[in-house]
Amino acid sequence: MKKYNFDLIIERKNTDSLKYGALQEIFGTTDLKPMWVADMDFKTPDFIIDAIKERLEHPILGYHDYWESYYDSIKWWTKNRHDFEIEKEWICFSPGIVPALGICVSVYTEKGDDVLVQPPVYHPFYYAIENQGRNVLSNPLIEKDGEFYMDFEDLETKLKKGVKLMLLCNPHNPVGKRWEKETLEKLAFLCNKYNCILVSDEIHSDLTMPDFKHFPTAISTTNEDEKANIITLMAPSKTFNIAGLATSEVIIPNPDLMKKFFHQIGDVLHMYTGNTLGAYALEAAYSPMGGVWVDELRDYLQENLKAMNDYLHSNFPKIRTYKHEATYLPWLDFSAYDLTHKELLRKLAFDCKLGLNDGTIFGKEGENKMRINIALPKSELMKAIEHFKHL
Ligand SMILES: Cc1ncc(COP(=O)(O)O)c(C=O)c1O
Repeated sequence: MKKYNFDLIIERKNTDSLKYGALQEIFGTTDLKPMWVADMDFKTPDFIIDAIKERLEHPILGYHDYWESYYDSIKWWTKNRHDFEIEKEWICFSPGIVPALGICVSVYTEKGDDVLVQPPVYHPFYYAIENQGRNVLSNPLIEKDGEFYMDFEDLETKLKKGVKLMLLCNPHNPVGKRWEKETLEKLAFLCNKYNCILVSDEIHSDLTMPDFKHFPTAISTTNEDEKANIITLMAPSKTFNIAGLATSEVIIPNPDLMKKFFHQIGDVLHMYTGNTLGAYALEAAYSPMGGVWVDELRDYLQENLKAMNDYLHSNFPKIRTYKHEATYLPWLDFSAYDLTHKELLRKLAFDCKLGLNDGTIFGKEGENKMRINIALPKSELMKAIEHFKHL
């Protein structure tokens, strides 16, 4: 028997939701179904809301100091869900993964340096690099038969130039790839060989499809130097739909790298503790109850993915889907339509009335592609994708 109801439709219009509130600004119309920014239209589970309410029983919300069971919950989750054993001393708070990416770029590179990324990739990777005067060095993913792979030959050529930092997306947004151990092992080896720090954004790690297990980059290797060269970014925000609580964890086993990161987040930005309610939410999330909830969620997302793909393959065979192993954000290819990218964007927004992410924000590889958010009640998803008939 399932415990949680993901079929529940919850009205989010005219709340403080970015996904619903920013439609005019992003799409030039408000008359569409928002299936873009990565949060879910599902209820944050009660055990998290209850933990926040319980904290509010105490009437003072002053600066907080992290407590032992807060760290224990992170350690328990990474070990229990991902076989990743970490120490308390390796954990640093960050208000988000994007701020942590920005800090890594600022402290481990200098202006004018190259930073490696694998496009098409989550667009704030580019902002973290370019908006701080660094250069994006692309190692594009290779697509073969609907699946994505890393191009190690190209990567090694680029690493040989002396790149200091690489931002990895594991699992990969937007192509929905869960990287295998062998791929990550090779990557960890190469980055260490060429003295390139590897930052692994694992915000989607809990959201693999049920048949796929996430593999943390940091445990892909047993070599201590390679392990010490990897920084892992994780968070309960995507998993439990609590992005608004701005609470994530940065895992840095190497004391020298930790010192630099902490100096920036603590001594420069004074951001080393987040909001108190986020910390209580994290502790409630990273628990056995959280495990039950996320497993039911993954089953539900898998059903949504299958229902969408079956429907698209039968009714709109020109829309190409890819092998999707993780995230609730599948990648769709519309190249078979006789439309320019600009026409495609206009038709999707104004004729289909669907607010999808423009593929090109993730890089030029996203031409004629879109990212769709399927974390919504199945009835709503199926109603929405019928609209592709207007393409
Ligand atoms: C790969 C990836 N990293 C980071 C984020 C956002 O992180 P945060 O909101 O914690 O800054 C997202 C959100 O979609 C994402 O997909």
